[in-house]
Amino acid sequence: MHKTLAAITGVGGYVPEYRLTNAELEKMVDTNDEWIMTRTGIKERRILKGEGLATSDMCVHAVRNLLQKTGNKATDIEMLIVATTTPDHQFPATANITCDKLGCNHILSFDISAACSGFLYALTTASKFIETGTFKKVVVVGADKMSSIINYQDRTTCVIFGDGAGAVLLEPNNDGLGLIDSVLKTDGSGRFYLHQKAGGSAKPASHETVDSLEHSVYQEGKTVFKFAVKNMADVAEEIMKRNNLSSDDISWLVPHQANLRIIDATAERMGIPREKVMINIEKYGNTTAGTLPLCLWEWEPQLKKGDNIVLAAFGGGFTWGATYIKWAY
Ligand code: UT7
Repeated sequence: MHKTLAAITGVGGYVPEYRLTNAELEKMVDTNDEWIMTRTGIKERRILKGEGLATSDMCVHAVRNLLQKTGNKATDIEMLIVATTTPDHQFPATANITCDKLGCNHILSFDISAACSGFLYALTTASKFIETGTFKKVVVVGADKMSSIINYQDRTTCVIFGDGAGAVLLEPNNDGLGLIDSVLKTDGSGRFYLHQKAGGSAKPASHETVDSLEHSVYQEGKTVFKFAVKNMADVAEEIMKRNNLSSDDISWLVPHQANLRIIDATAERMGIPREKVMINIEKYGNTTAGTLPLCLWEWEPQLKKGDNIVLAAFGGGFTWGATYIKWAY
């Protein structure tokens, strides 16, 4: 019998109905479909519309979808983590609000803030509670309502981001299937290149911060691009080496969907052909913590028991990482 691993035993997802197309963005800012497609690979992104609707509402949709698919009830969940950069409020945690809306209060729930790498951070954290036997059913959600922090007059960011949520169920597995390894890293000095200038304790909200649009995403794209290309490929290579994986051993690469050029660079360094790379950036853009579980959600029917899957991400913070999973069903 193998040691207990945390295996993904189901995937749920949710994307809002509204499609913000490149054609519509052309009417809002000085941009065009050709620039967006060649520089990013994005055709459209989903936007959560509706008064008062928040990240937790997308989490609830994704988890309900997961519960329905796996034949579980909300009250079966023993712990729930939400990875997000766009929580409903500064406090309390979006995970708590999600549990309340689902009807599973009185469990352990909390948020993880690691921007685009958030899902890998949350998945790895959650896996420890399974491996130690603390819990048997843990839900991990990656969700962001990026439209809530985007300045739709800034063409350098508004074309990139979208809204969405994905959720996975983790359960113990003693057959060697599940989360095998993770390499997670941060470099706080990267915070200057991708961040939200105001709204936290360093610069609380004021009339001035609102007037100067400092509550929106600020990104120095070129610099972030350079770090992303290098670090995402480095960490993917590191996890392959640590686990003696050749490119032929890998069934699927699940890359963070920030830019098609970054995805291609990572896949190329790993020696993985396009047909083994999950790519849905064209439809959803960059949903931050949502990209990786939304890929798993879409590709779930094609995954087979024992598939070697490498997930890789890079994001604000800077944060980055890679996780190696043996698919369990
Ligand atoms: O997920 C979190 C981590 N984030 C990332 O990984 C994002 C990394 N960065 C990127 O993906 C890319 O840097 C961007 C997609 C953000 C930008 O692409 P780029 O090829 O690096 O373009 P650039 O910033 O160098 O801009 C090139 C030109 C500039 O004009 P000039 O100075 O050459 O005249 C920009 O002003 O493109 C201009 N530009 C645009 N033009 C049309 C910038 N945004 C747009 C736009 N439409 N939307």
